[in-house]
Order: sequence, then structure tokens, then C-alpha cells
Amino acid sequence: MKAKTIGILTSGGDAPGMNAAVRAVTRASITAGYKVKAIYHGYQGLINGEIEEFTNESVSGIISRGGTILRTARCMDFLTVEGRKKAYEKFKEAGIDALVCIGGNGTLTGAMTFADEYDIQCIGIPATVDNDINGTDETIGYDTTLNTIMECVDKIRDTAASHERIFFIEVMGRDAGWLAQSSAIASGAEAAIVPESATNVDQLAQYIEKGIRKSKNSSIVIVSESPECGAMHYAERVKKEYPQFDVRVSILGHMQRGGSPSARDRILASVLGAVAVEAIKEGQHNIMVGMSNGEPVYVPFAKAIQVQAKNGAPMLKLVETLSN
Ligand code: F6P
Repeated sequence: MKAKTIGILTSGGDAPGMNAAVRAVTRASITAGYKVKAIYHGYQGLINGEIEEFTNESVSGIISRGGTILRTARCMDFLTVEGRKKAYEKFKEAGIDALVCIGGNGTLTGAMTFADEYDIQCIGIPATVDNDINGTDETIGYDTTLNTIMECVDKIRDTAASHERIFFIEVMGRDAGWLAQSSAIASGAEAAIVPESATNVDQLAQYIEKGIRKSKNSSIVIVSESPECGAMHYAERVKKEYPQFDVRVSILGHMQRGGSPSARDRILASVLGAVAVEAIKEGQHNIMVGMSNGEPVYVPFAKAIQVQAKNGAPMLKLVETLSN
């Protein structure tokens, strides 16, 4: 009987630990007697037929590397019926039987649509620094990025304290406040501004004064990115209304997504990669694999992509309490 062939791709924003997941899927598949076909540039590469067979050696030495060796893309063509039709033709041509899609919300939504349209066995692995995927405790990449932000904030604290300044530090997260809230706790910031909760300037001034009163002589406010209400916006308003404060802004940007994955992300990616192959063996269809309370779980795509269902600021009150 022909061995089953598993296709694997990474898509959307890269996240540290994606390579560890690619490695785990590849090696667990080969161990189970499957063939592995790597697809480059996410769904765009599937449409273009950028497909290559992988062996155990293909994934040697990648567990410690950030980014993704498969490259990635945010593919507009895959949002169209014609694009997915082309992708399906290449999928069949390459002899792929099941597809493992590693990425965030957009990737899982794409996998769900593709699986429904063509009755394909698709398994998702949640990998995004935003940690906004429903049904899993954490996503691959979140822990590493959180640690990177924490280290940056610690450094900014040194200069903030020396100059007795207030810093607004903008972090990633798209529509979710996980990175802002958790980095604020980990770095002892005075406040976190997250999309899940409204913050006004008077409230902010209170937090800042609290920081200054505590003889720290400085304050750090972590702000979730937002096109209208990012760190710049709050800094300008505070400067205008409280000219006594010496305010600076630091936007951390894409450096947050790079770097070698933490042990926690490598382990999560390794476990989920192996669980994805188990799911294929069991004949599971159209699910994301995740971890819930430390146990592997299968989550239907439709549930996984309900990003709003995963409250990104469950510990916001704690940031406030601990900055007292
Ligand atoms: O989804 C991951 C993420 O890093 C978000 O936090 C951020 O808003 C976005 O990707 C940035 O996307 P790009 O790399 O395309 O600029």
C-alpha cells in the first residue's frame, strides 16, 4: 500500500518555535512510516507548487533557530476560490494526503476553508506571538517574545530611572493584550494598556504618579499596538495634559518576533508537532492541536479561530495591584 504523504507549511507572521514544530512533524511522520513534503512560503507556495520532499536530515539543527526555514507569507490569493483551486491541484499533483498548517488565526481560517471545500485532512498547529488562539493555553512563540519584551523593558527601566522619565513602550499583539499585560507583570511596569479594556488619560496620570511616588522616579507603561491608540497617542496626550512629566516612547517592533525560541516554546512545538501526527494517524479531520491545562487536546477549527473568546487581559487587575 502507498505510504501516506503529509504536507507541512508555515504561514502568516513567523513565530519563534515554528522550526521546532516543523522538525517534530517531519520526524514523527517519518517514524510513523509517512512521507513528508515541505511546502515553502505558506499557502502561496502551495499555489505555486513550491514543494520538496523532506527527510530527517532536512530538519537537522533547526530546533534552536528563530523564524521559519519554510519561509512564510500572508497570502491574498488563498482567500479566493480560484486561489484555493490552484492550491488543491498542486496538492494532488504532489501526492499529498494530509496537510499540517502551522500559524495563527489567518492560517487556521485558511486551513478550515480549504478542508471544507475539498474534504482534505487538515491539522492546525497554533503558532503566533499574539497568543490569541482559542482552546489552547498558549501558542508557539508567545513565551519567547514575552521574554524578549521583558529583557527590553528591563533595559529601558535603567535609562528611565536615570533620567527620571516616563516611558510608553509599544508591543505587538494585534487585537489581543496578552503580550502587553504579561510583559507588564513580568517587568513590574506601572500600567498596561490593552485593547480589551478602555484606559483614559486621567487614569494613566494616576498610574504614572504612583510610579514616581514609589521613589522609582520613573514610570513604565506598556501599550498594545494599535493604529489609532498606540504608545505615540498616549504619550502625546499625557505630554499635553501633564507637561511636568518628561515623556519618551519606545516602539519595540519586529525584533519581538525574532530570536532563538525559549525552552518552553521548543517543548510546546515538539509536543504539538508529534500530537498533530497522532491526529493524522487517528484519522482526525479539520482540527487544531493544542494544550489545555497541560494536556494535549483537539480543537475544531471553528472554535480555535474565535479569537475574542480568549480574553487577552485576565490579569490586568494584577498589574494595577502590584504597581501600588
Ligand atoms: O500576528 C503576529 C504579528 O506580529 C502581530 O502582533 C502584528 O500586528 C503583526 O503580526 C505584524 O505583521 P507584519 O509582520 O506583517 O508587519
